[in-house]
Amino acid sequence: MKKVAIITGAGSGIGKEFVKQIVSGDIDEIWAVGRNIDKLNELKDEYGDKIIPLRSDISNEEGLGIIKDALGEQKPDVVMLVNNAGTAYFGKFEDMSADSAKGLVDIICKAPSILFHMVIPYMKQGARILNISSASSFQPNPYLAMYAASKVYLKNFSRALNQELKPRKITVTAVCPGWVDTDMLKNENGERTVKFPGMVTAEKVVAKALKDSSKGKDISMSSLYNSYLRFYSKVTPHKIVMKQWIFAIRKYIDVSDKK
Ligand SMILES: NC(=O)c1ccc[n+]([C@@H]2O[C@H](COP(=O)([O-])OP(=O)(O)OC[C@H]3O[C@@H](n4cnc5c(N)ncnc54)[C@H](OP(=O)(O)O)[C@@H]3O)[C@@H](O)[C@H]2O)c1
Repeated sequence: MKKVAIITGAGSGIGKEFVKQIVSGDIDEIWAVGRNIDKLNELKDEYGDKIIPLRSDISNEEGLGIIKDALGEQKPDVVMLVNNAGTAYFGKFEDMSADSAKGLVDIICKAPSILFHMVIPYMKQGARILNISSASSFQPNPYLAMYAASKVYLKNFSRALNQELKPRKITVTAVCPGWVDTDMLKNENGERTVKFPGMVTAEKVVAKALKDSSKGKDISMSSLYNSYLRFYSKVTPHKIVMKQWIFAIRKYIDVSDKK
């Protein structure tokens, strides 16, 4: 039976780094999922026939159906699922369109939940699920409100499932990086390269995530700074943490009251 890893959002940033770091391991195929087929084909050019590009928009049933059909046809041994695809919206929630809001929840919350049900029948002891949450799940984040809330869902969902799956020795890890130097930040900041505090590379996030999930951890902190942020947000009233957050982001986002 083929050993398969499935990575959503594999064409760029953290997802692409997952491909790079696991491709030489004991895996027959990596199903690289994303909407941009050119980027997925580039992965195949770079890493060879282990890469199976799957063009799929996981925000809708048709896209998820492509993965379901592939699983049904191949009946593989799914050794890893990385729910990495994501989208962010910085700004006032009232300025976010209803379609974007629905899309965000569909990608970050709904798709990983549905994919879980799809892959679990194909997972054996030792299989791993990594869900890319975020440090923004540590406290409410005004002007990143829905994104941060969706990442809380993904974090708590992952940690709870990790407990449920312990008897089957399947690990579910919530990966909670702070700022990571990827296109997502550039796209959300008008192509500006911004040096956010504690920013780390995708390489570091992925290496730590793989290490933590192999140890059965239910949460992966990408850096010491990140662990500090998590501790700080546990011991400090969130009213204060939110004020500090707004102060820190005011350079990049309009936080004025004007409408
Ligand atoms: N960068 C950060 O500071 C940071 C911090 C914490 C957590 N994260 C999380 O890390 C994950 C990866 O983000 P990144 O920083 O690597 O940014 P990125 O390079 O923009 O990657 C996002 C990926 O998601 C895929 N994607 C988006 N919508 C999709 C859809 N509807 N269907 C399928 N794929 C979709 C994109 O691929 P296509 O365009 O090909 O569809 C893209 O490859 C996200 O979940 C993000 O929330 C990022």
